[in-house]
Amino acid sequence: MNKWDTEEAIRRWNMHAENFTARYTEEGDRSREVLLNPALQECMGTLAGKKVLDAGCGEGYLSRKMVRAGALVEGVDYSPEMLELARKRTPSDLGITYHHGNLEKLEMFGDQSFDQIVSNMVIQDLEDYEQAIAEMRRLLVPGGSFIFSILHPCFQTPDSGWVKDEAGKKLHWKVNRYFSEGALEQDMPYDQEEKLLYFHRTLGSYVQAITGAGLLLEAMIEPKPSAEMLERYPDFHEDLNVSHFLIFKTKRRG
Ligand SMILES: C[S@@+](CC[C@H](N)C(=O)[O-])C[C@H]1O[C@@H](n2cnc3c(N)ncnc32)[C@H](O)[C@@H]1O
Repeated sequence: MNKWDTEEAIRRWNMHAENFTARYTEEGDRSREVLLNPALQECMGTLAGKKVLDAGCGEGYLSRKMVRAGALVEGVDYSPEMLELARKRTPSDLGITYHHGNLEKLEMFGDQSFDQIVSNMVIQDLEDYEQAIAEMRRLLVPGGSFIFSILHPCFQTPDSGWVKDEAGKKLHWKVNRYFSEGALEQDMPYDQEEKLLYFHRTLGSYVQAITGAGLLLEAMIEPKPSAEMLERYPDFHEDLNVSHFLIFKTKRRG
């Protein structure tokens, strides 16, 4: 069996890129539309004229959204299959350049290249998160922000999930083995033997990595469905019981 590291995580992203993004719209998947996009948008503020990096851009929906909001966007991803989808799905007049690279070391970009970096559901997918966070700081101008979302480390733990009754009704969310940091298989795709990987770390480890890299932690957001989204997608009522995602808003001090 291959070692579960960044390279193996990317091998699996290459395998599942098409399938994972098959139902994406220009808002991404349903969780992005309902939970992540509104919260990220609020964190990002006004984008007009800002130079932004979409770090771990996947098939590029967020890059395209940010350009349409006025930003100058470059995307980077370590999966060639994802980049192929991004290039296919992005009209050339949007002017987005997509690069191949590992967030743990992005040699193609000079110091202080970006006003803002956003990384949507990526940092939990790579092994050396401390190095990746430090690399994001290097790429930011002083005062620039690095905003990243991850699976909520307090609720998405090894062995976490719904506890159901005999009829399959969801009773409550179970959390276990919180302090067991390391690589795990996700339950996606459920019908494939080799699933996507992710790396669990505690909330404290993430905060330590942010402050240790010299970034100021400005906010932590646990996205909740709005009343409008609940009306449109009633299934999201169950997301009022447990927070699946966590967004960090950080800023480079000097
Ligand atoms: C859950 S997907 C998110 C993609 C996109 N941000 C979105 O929200 O649709 C995770 C992405 O991170 C990329 N990724 C994982 N590890 C990476 C690394 N070390 N460097 C760059 N990209 C990475 C994967 O290839 C994949 O495209």
